[in-house]
Amino acid sequence: MQRMLVADDDASIRSVLRDLLEDEGYDVDETESGAGVLSALTGKNGSIPDLVVMDIRMPDKTGIEVLRELSAMNKGGGALPIVVMTAFGTSSVAIEAMQLGAYDYITKPFNLDEVLVTIQRYFERMALSEQVQELSTRLGERDPNEIIIGNSQPMQEVYKTVGRVARSDATVLITGETGTGKELVATVLHRSSSYRAGQLVKVNCAALPETLLESELFGHEKGAFTGAVNQRKGRFEMANKGTIFLDEVGEMTLSTQKKLLRVLQEREFDRVGGSVPVKVDTRVISATNKVLPQEVESGRFREDLYYRLNVISIYLPALRDRLDDVPLLVEHFLSKHRASAGSGPSRISQGAMRTLMEYDWPGNVRQLENAIERAAVLSQGGVITEDHIDLSGADSRRFVDVAQQIRKGTTLRDLLGDVERQALSEALTQTDGDRVAAASLLGLDIPEFQSRFSAFNL
Ligand SMILES: Nc1ncnc2c1ncn2[C@@H]1O[C@H](COP(=O)(O)OP(=O)(O)OP(=O)(O)O)[C@@H](O)[C@H]1O
Ligand SMILES: [Mg+2]
Repeated sequence: MQRMLVADDDASIRSVLRDLLEDEGYDVDETESGAGVLSALTGKNGSIPDLVVMDIRMPDKTGIEVLRELSAMNKGGGALPIVVMTAFGTSSVAIEAMQLGAYDYITKPFNLDEVLVTIQRYFERMALSEQVQELSTRLGERDPNEIIIGNSQPMQEVYKTVGRVARSDATVLITGETGTGKELVATVLHRSSSYRAGQLVKVNCAALPETLLESELFGHEKGAFTGAVNQRKGRFEMANKGTIFLDEVGEMTLSTQKKLLRVLQEREFDRVGGSVPVKVDTRVISATNKVLPQEVESGRFREDLYYRLNVISIYLPALRDRLDDVPLLVEHFLSKHRASAGSGPSRISQGAMRTLMEYDWPGNVRQLENAIERAAVLSQGGVITEDHIDLSGADSRRFVDVAQQIRKGTTLRDLLGDVERQALSEALTQTDGDRVAAASLLGLDIPEFQSRFSAFNL
């Protein structure tokens, strides 16, 4: 049973709240003073209450003084388990209370339903963060970048496959739209495999033109081509006794595909310009957001290679197909970015959460993470509302994929234009719209920044 403490110097209010809360099945204690709250929350009265409903005006210590003392002890520890009651119209006090770490406030005279909803929301939120904690300890990972979040049915399927292949060291192909967590899953697979003592070497097959990709993968001998002044080891050699992660594997040319096939079949390859085969023992995980069977069909991807890569396949669902995971993900990203920014606790309003749950997320989890990170900054550690949520720049944070653009026949002029537009808008985002600061961030003077800015109609 949840234990509540009601703190008010007015006995009639204490008894109204006690009746209300006991009817809802809470265990209720009372105190008439700020000192009583302090000793209860610091464990001096035996068991610590799960949540305190506290009046701001009390004769011995005001609620603000109580919060100040507690937040001094609670540095960086998240919201205090306190809902404060303030007189209607004293919003500055309410704001101060929130800044000192109170979880929420209600105004007097209060509406009993509002009191109950506020309290229920607190406990729901606590239950969510416990789930996140539990999941992360279960996976034995401390690094917040290596935890897969989600309890939805489609994610349960993912966990089953991940669990099954974790120790098998089988070759895995991970598919799914952009931002669904393919790289994350590859990392988790590597960490739980018997190759975990070795390196996880990542190669983005879309980022390099063919000749560079080959020497990147297989290395080259001295003098193999102009500029190859020394022998160089490739990624496959670096991944020996470890895992190689071939990202965007659907972008490889047919000739590179042929060389990759040989590595998978024979576990050996030649360096570019070399004639002595190099042997490797490497686990291979690849990922793509293309539909490879279609690529095979149209002759752009070798069928034999497809079968070699696709021994086990893991499909990551789009976020719009598992929207019930949004609250858990939000909770996870709030605590992740709180830890990294060292800022105060951010909380999210129900309206903002509704907005997030009604969106279709073309950029998937990556886009959600960016939106939360940005909202946390804008809300300055307070409550995130709808106004802090920006869903317009779906992919504004993604870099221009030069290799792909060139393949598509984009001219240099257009490419540079895209990069410039992105740089301007990114600089504005990072400086919260301050043009002077954005100009200096990009090393431009103000008139020049202005003229480029207006040229792009930003
Ligand atoms: N289920 C998840 N739980 C927690 N974080 C996630 C989850 N899925 C994705 N992320 C986070 O979202 C971001 C994008 O994920 P990731 O880079 O793995 O996506 P991807 O599928 O490889 O995308 P792309 O196809 O664009 O390369 C990362 O910061 C990752 O940690
Ligand atoms: Mg990726």
